[in-house]
Amino acid sequence: MLGVASGKLSSWISRQILHYSSVGGYLETVIQLVKPNWRDGYYRAEIVAVKKLHANTVEVQLKVPSYWPVHKAGQHLELTLEIDGRLVTRLFTIASSPSLAKSKRLVRLVVKSQPHGILTPKLEALALGSWVNVSKPSGDFTFQFNLQPEQRALFLAAGSGITPFIAMLNAMLNNMLDDQSRSNKHERDANVSALHLVYYAKPGEHLLLDELEVIAEQLDFFTFELLTRTKDGELSKKLPTLNADALYVCGPSPFYHAAAEFAKRENLPIYAEHFSLIPTTPDEQQTFTAQLNSELIELTNAEPVLTQLLAKGRQLTYGCKMGICHQCQCVKKSGVVKNLRTGEVSDRGEELIQLCVSQLMTDVELEA
Ligand SMILES: Cc1cc2nc3c(=O)[nH]c(=O)nc-3n(C[C@H](O)[C@H](O)[C@H](O)COP(=O)(O)OP(=O)(O)OC[C@H]3O[C@@H](n4cnc5c(N)ncnc54)[C@H](O)[C@@H]3O)c2cc1C
Ligand code: FES
Repeated sequence: MLGVASGKLSSWISRQILHYSSVGGYLETVIQLVKPNWRDGYYRAEIVAVKKLHANTVEVQLKVPSYWPVHKAGQHLELTLEIDGRLVTRLFTIASSPSLAKSKRLVRLVVKSQPHGILTPKLEALALGSWVNVSKPSGDFTFQFNLQPEQRALFLAAGSGITPFIAMLNAMLNNMLDDQSRSNKHERDANVSALHLVYYAKPGEHLLLDELEVIAEQLDFFTFELLTRTKDGELSKKLPTLNADALYVCGPSPFYHAAAEFAKRENLPIYAEHFSLIPTTPDEQQTFTAQLNSELIELTNAEPVLTQLLAKGRQLTYGCKMGICHQCQCVKKSGVVKNLRTGEVSDRGEELIQLCVSQLMTDVELEA
């Protein structure tokens, strides 16, 4: 109890006085002078396998230390590599089961290389035995086994959005195999919900098909179908033909919107993982002046501050670009911004903001 209270107090002091979420974060640049790869709150992981799954997709297997807190299936981690002398962090879902991490300390990532991206194109060339930094797992996109018997959950995946579902399915398979107390298969089947995966990808780009087939063979409540937009049409047309009591979605924003509209219309629960910020358009576009350190830059309220600054060629540190990792944090000295993730509007004074989810509401003064 005392430990939790003192942890909260130290975090509060760090935020208020140092503008960092921990003292380690504040000291990070100093410690990096002696240990360049050191990151506050990070774990060292060894690259043990790198495999190309498709022209633009790579599978990376990492060995995490024994004290790494094992994930829940569906969660993600932050991966940090040193690229051209800079530490670059990006987020990836853990595409393997918690039991693999527990028993063998192995964690798998399945990553689509982004054209002109900074980090993802480098993964293919990672040397076996080299070391990277990973964070503890986080995220709340996990499967809740709270459906009634006879109820049907629908997994909706698009492209690399298959990764959280692969982790969940592998976890279910491992749980089933581990369950030594299961003596009567038919008895268990009667108590399990049906689970159907609808997986959209470009022709020939569906990932991990062998694995999905093995899982479907072993888990008799699980079925899947592979679709392409060109041949099978949009998700919005497909959804009314499916029978579902709960939706789980991971895919780009139009894909998510189709599922969310259907869920709203049918009054179904929906759980989603997003790989990027869902775009929002302001009612009225306005232009403001941002003072970034000593430079004056014209920005609008149409896009997050980070997106605009990157497009204008400013070199800034970022990670997830959706308000999760705090890599883009900077001090707002004055002015008002709206947090696009939470909808919260800042006050006018000095505070820490995340540039990737900040929409300007007035002129601002930033220290990055
Ligand atoms: C919770 C979460 C889980 C994720 N899980 C996975 C996963 O399992 N697998 C997976 O493949 N991906 C996943 N992602 C997405 C992944 O994190 C991103 O694709 C990754 O960050 C890209 O990194 P990068 O450095 O290669 O690209 P970045 O350098 O970040 O660029 C990304 C794209 O934006 C473009 N871009 C960058 N700057 C600009 C600019 N100024 N103007 C215009 N365009 C620009 C680039 O050209 C590139 O195409 C996940 C994301 C989140 C948030
Ligand atoms: S880049 Fe991750 S919070 Fe902004």
